[in-house]
Amino acid sequence: MPDRVTAFAPGRVNLIGEHTDYNDGLALPFAIGAGVTVRATATGEDQVHVIAADLDAHDTFELGRPGRVSGWRAFARGAVGELTTAGASLVGARLEVSGSVPRGSGLSSSAALEVALCLALLGIAGAPVPDRLDLAGICSRVENEWVGARTGLLDQIASLFGQPDRAMRIDFQSLEVTPVALELDGHQLVTLDSGERHANAASGSDANGETGYNQRRAECMRAAELLAVDSLREATLAGADELPEPLNRRVRHVITENERVQQTVAALSAGDLEHVGELLNASHESLRDCFEISTPAVERTVVALRAAGAVGARIMGGGFGGHVLGLLPAGATPPDGSLEVRPGPGARIFR
Ligand code: GLA
Repeated sequence: MPDRVTAFAPGRVNLIGEHTDYNDGLALPFAIGAGVTVRATATGEDQVHVIAADLDAHDTFELGRPGRVSGWRAFARGAVGELTTAGASLVGARLEVSGSVPRGSGLSSSAALEVALCLALLGIAGAPVPDRLDLAGICSRVENEWVGARTGLLDQIASLFGQPDRAMRIDFQSLEVTPVALELDGHQLVTLDSGERHANAASGSDANGETGYNQRRAECMRAAELLAVDSLREATLAGADELPEPLNRRVRHVITENERVQQTVAALSAGDLEHVGELLNASHESLRDCFEISTPAVERTVVALRAAGAVGARIMGGGFGGHVLGLLPAGATPPDGSLEVRPGPGARIFR
């Protein structure tokens, strides 16, 4: 068994295909360079010590009894709980966590944290790393069952399957992951912070105490029930039109967003970046008007990117704030504070 291991898991940018993952749909994300690093040291004890360098906070719990808590401490406890349930024999360790991806920004800091924690815990125990799709499922259960966000598999798969220069087309019905060359013909992809932070477990609270992200997911499940389909992947626009407000618009978004993913893959392979930009704009309009997850700060950020010459700009991730994605042509100067993003390798362990 090693004394020390380091695990790194990247955040992600989702080029297109938003709120489709938990509807058995399609998405086209890529892993980015920024992410979360977990340095694990074996202690020989039956406890796990977690040090969150960026938060100046720490946590200690029993390996065999992680216990339920809220906030950032739920992640390591959930990782231990879910890996153990999946059959891994873990060992006591000190885990030092640090991140270069802003938290709650739509760049998937949560999945990066889950994946890095799981890889570090497995690595320090000398345990085999499960099949990466299975590991994505374990990480997603950490988020669903321990952190309380009913998110899908988009972020975990993107973090685990990243490849340099490639986006990945994910089909969440078959769980097929297909690399797609991301040749931008001199264009650049940037993200720009809207300045608003969200937590998917607590974003956009409504009067019923249900939260924005979880509420959208519940609406989609309800719509599938009313349409008598297993998931919205089987829904039709004609069926959507029969549903009451706002379920009709939620379904319309999901159906048209899946089509936009297909069209973006085709536009990329034809080198038609103008059309990719139009598809990003159409995705934004649908997320704003049909899915209703935009905010005034996000809208101002989209306008800033378009004013800088972006051929496409859209809200990204769970919504209700976070980073906005922009596609700028050669020669355009991105607004101050923009970060250029490009596809990088997926999560890994350094021994
Ligand atoms: C968040 C969730 C993902 C996905 C996106 C929206 O990032 O973690 O599972 O649902 O929102 O596409």
